[in-house]
Amino acid sequence: MIRVGILGSGFIADSYADSLLDVRNAVLTANYSRNPSRAAEFAERWSSGASFDSMEALCASPEVDLVVIALPNEAHVQAARIAAAVGKGIICTKPLARTAAEAQQIVDLAREAGVWHGYAESSVFSPNIQKAYEMVQAGGIGDLLTMRAREAHSGPHAAHFWDADTAGGGALLDMGCHTVESARHFFGKDNHVTEVFAYGATMVHGDKTTGEDTAVAMLKFEGGQLAVIESSWVEKGGMQLRHELVGSAGRLVTDTSVTPVWGFIENPVGYLVEKSDADTGWVYPVPEETRAYGFSQQMRHFVDSFAAGTQPSETFDDGLVVNTILDACYRAMASRTWEPVVYPNAVFPS
Ligand SMILES: NC(=O)c1ccc[n+]([C@@H]2O[C@H](COP(=O)([O-])OP(=O)(O)OC[C@H]3O[C@@H](n4cnc5c(N)ncnc54)[C@H](O)[C@@H]3O)[C@@H](O)[C@H]2O)c1
Repeated sequence: MIRVGILGSGFIADSYADSLLDVRNAVLTANYSRNPSRAAEFAERWSSGASFDSMEALCASPEVDLVVIALPNEAHVQAARIAAAVGKGIICTKPLARTAAEAQQIVDLAREAGVWHGYAESSVFSPNIQKAYEMVQAGGIGDLLTMRAREAHSGPHAAHFWDADTAGGGALLDMGCHTVESARHFFGKDNHVTEVFAYGATMVHGDKTTGEDTAVAMLKFEGGQLAVIESSWVEKGGMQLRHELVGSAGRLVTDTSVTPVWGFIENPVGYLVEKSDADTGWVYPVPEETRAYGFSQQMRHFVDSFAAGTQPSETFDDGLVVNTILDACYRAMASRTWEPVVYPNAVFPS
C-alpha cells in the first residue's frame, strides 16, 4: 500500500483526495495546511489520518511514501525542495513552476535527490482525450495535422491566481499549460515545438489582475504540424475543455465538459460543476468530475508507476518542457513576433 501525503487543502487537494479513493493500492495518510484548523477539517473530510501545519513534518513523516504538491504555483519549488530533501517520491500539480528557470530547479532537485517524480497534468488522463489519443494512434484520422484546443472558465476562485507577479502569469500559464501538454501528447513528445506565436489581453478583469485573462497561442512542431490553443478567464457558464484534431483522413472532437445531465431548475441544489456561474436556470452539471477530468486515472497511473519504480508518462521533465514553451509564448506576446523555443540542455541533452 502506497501512503500518500498531500500538501495543501484547497480545490485541487480535494480533487486529489477524492481521486485517491479510486486507487486501490494507495491510502491518504497525511495532509498539510498552513492553517491547523483547515488541516484538521481536511483530515476529517477525507479520513486522511494525520494533519500537519508544517510541510517539513509531513514530508518527514514515516507514514508518507509519496508527497503530492497541491499548493499555489509560487510554493512549488519550496515544497519540492522539502520533499526531495527527505527522499520522498513527488507528484506536483500543474503548472510545474512559474518559469522554465524555476521548473529547472525542481527537475534538478528531484534528479539530485534521485527521487521518483510525476507531473500532474490531468488533461491527458481524461477519458475522452485518452479515447481520442487511441484513435489517433490507431491511424483513424491518418496523419495528424492540426489541433485546436480551448480551456476556459470565467476566472479563478482564489486570490493567488489573480496576482500575476506571484502566480507567474495569467490565463495562458494557468490554463494553457494543459493544452500545451495535450498538444505534445498528440503530436509526439519527440516532435519538438520549435516556434510559437501568442497574443494576450486583459479584456474583463483589469480590476483584479495585471495578467492576461484571454490568450491565443500557436505552436509549430518540428514535423510541420500546428496547434492553436486558447486560454480564457472570461468565458461564463462553467468549465470548457475542448479539442479538435484534424488529420489527413478525418477529424476528432473531444469535449471534457459535455454532460449527459442538463435541465432547467428554479431552485438552487448546491454544487453543480466547476465555476458554473449560475445555480438556477439552464444548468449543465458534470457527473463524476474527478473521473471526467482524469484525476483518478492520473493518480492510479502515478501510484502504479511509483509502486513499480517505473517512470510515469508525465514527469517533471514534461513540466519543464511545458514551462519552456509557455515562456516562449510570453516572449512572443511581448515582442509580437514568432519566437523560437529554446530548450535547456537538461531536457534534451545533445
Ligand atoms: N487540473 C488541475 O490539475 C488543477 C486544477 C486546479 C488547480 N491546479 C493547481 O493547483 C495549485 C493550487 O490551486 P488550488 O485551486 O488548489 O488553489 P486553492 O487556493 O484552492 O488552494 C491552495 C491551498 O494552498 C494553501 N496555500 C496558499 N498559499 C500557500 C503558501 N504560500 N504556502 C503554503 N500553502 C499555501 C492554501 O491555504 C490552500 O490550502 C495551483 O498550482 C493550480 O495551478 C491544478
